[in-house]
Amino acid sequence: MAFFPQNEGLFCESPKPITLIARHLHGRGTWLRIKRLSSATPTASPPTSKDSIVNLDAGDPTMYESFWKGMGDQGAITISSWQTISYFSDVTNFCWFLEPEFAREIRRLHKLVGNAVTEDRYLIVGTGSSQLLQAAIYALSPSDTPSPMNVVSAVPYYLTYAPLMDYLRSGLFRWAGDACTFKGDAYIELVCSPSNLDGFRRQAVLKSEGGKTIHDLAYYWPQYTPITNPADHDISIFTVSKSIGHAGSRLGWALVKDTAVAQKMTKFIDRSTIGVSKVSQIQVAKIFKVVSDSYEHPIPENPNKLFDFGRRLPVDRWKKLREAVKASKIFSLPEFPSETCKFTGEKAETLPAFAWLKCEKEGIEDCASFLRTHKILTRGGSYFGASPNYTRVSMIDRDETFDLFTERLSSLH
Ligand SMILES: Cc1ncc(COP(=O)(O)O)c(C=O)c1O
Repeated sequence: MAFFPQNEGLFCESPKPITLIARHLHGRGTWLRIKRLSSATPTASPPTSKDSIVNLDAGDPTMYESFWKGMGDQGAITISSWQTISYFSDVTNFCWFLEPEFAREIRRLHKLVGNAVTEDRYLIVGTGSSQLLQAAIYALSPSDTPSPMNVVSAVPYYLTYAPLMDYLRSGLFRWAGDACTFKGDAYIELVCSPSNLDGFRRQAVLKSEGGKTIHDLAYYWPQYTPITNPADHDISIFTVSKSIGHAGSRLGWALVKDTAVAQKMTKFIDRSTIGVSKVSQIQVAKIFKVVSDSYEHPIPENPNKLFDFGRRLPVDRWKKLREAVKASKIFSLPEFPSETCKFTGEKAETLPAFAWLKCEKEGIEDCASFLRTHKILTRGGSYFGASPNYTRVSMIDRDETFDLFTERLSSLH
């Protein structure tokens, strides 16, 4: 199998070719037999009819589109052409390509939500959290050891970790698989909490003195999980994609305690892409401002608030999914605890961005392949080092796709 490395495995090629029957789109009702060379499954558009392919394979956060459409021009910006001439954003900052306004709005948002300590932390911007994960691994891998540093994560792990580490065959680090079975002292453990897959909060499983950890907190936001404490790790990595939905901005940020690590991470981004898009940073700074203002200075003409929307919709979706699973009788889902969320002050259930669906029917060993025969595309368990009885379903796609999915799922027996 092969991946394009710089995204969430959006174009994940399966070794098995698939054949799909799809209705001709030009209205003549002709049936076309489409043989595809791979299951590369971009998710650009919603389904057009009841028997369309339902694509919930990638974690494309299109669920947020309707919220931002409802916000009209509030997130709009005008950038004069001269504003993006220089490579530099702030020469007084060690992370010289970090836009000051973007940095301010990140710290403000964390303070509002209470999900991360930002005081006395270095802030580094990256081209998506994908680049920051690589920068952090680079910074923590010694350059003077004979063998590459082992990078591990507990199964089931976020599927892009392995190709991110191995795609360029670095001599400094290598993917070493499941943290739970790893033996040795020289490692970097990637802790994804809440997990990209099952939504449970995680802690490092390895505890050696010589080991290092990187916390990937892409989903530590109130729409997915109750906020219980401000995260306070050596390296915490966040992404714009899953916090507010703007995956196309390709921005992420890291909060780092140690000066030398922060400097090496900055050097990695300097050497690989000579900084990060100013346009994206200026735009997202404005969007973050809109989010924080809606809580701190609400305006009566527009009472919409991102995290309220981000909770309301998934509550409804998880209810519908559980009903569909019950109706079908052949699937099961994890159950989640409820805890008090310090951001809302209310008891809240975990509502993961992905459903980790298990097929319980005897004789079906590969849940994703079974769903694929019903034109539902998901990401099978084996991609994550787990059993093929499981498959991962995106819960953050558009309404049309999600509704068609639950409707079709409930009819499978
Ligand atoms: C756990 C996790 N980490 C990192 C990423 C990468 O995010 P970005 O779009 O910022 O590169 C994703 C994207 O889906 C993710 O789920």
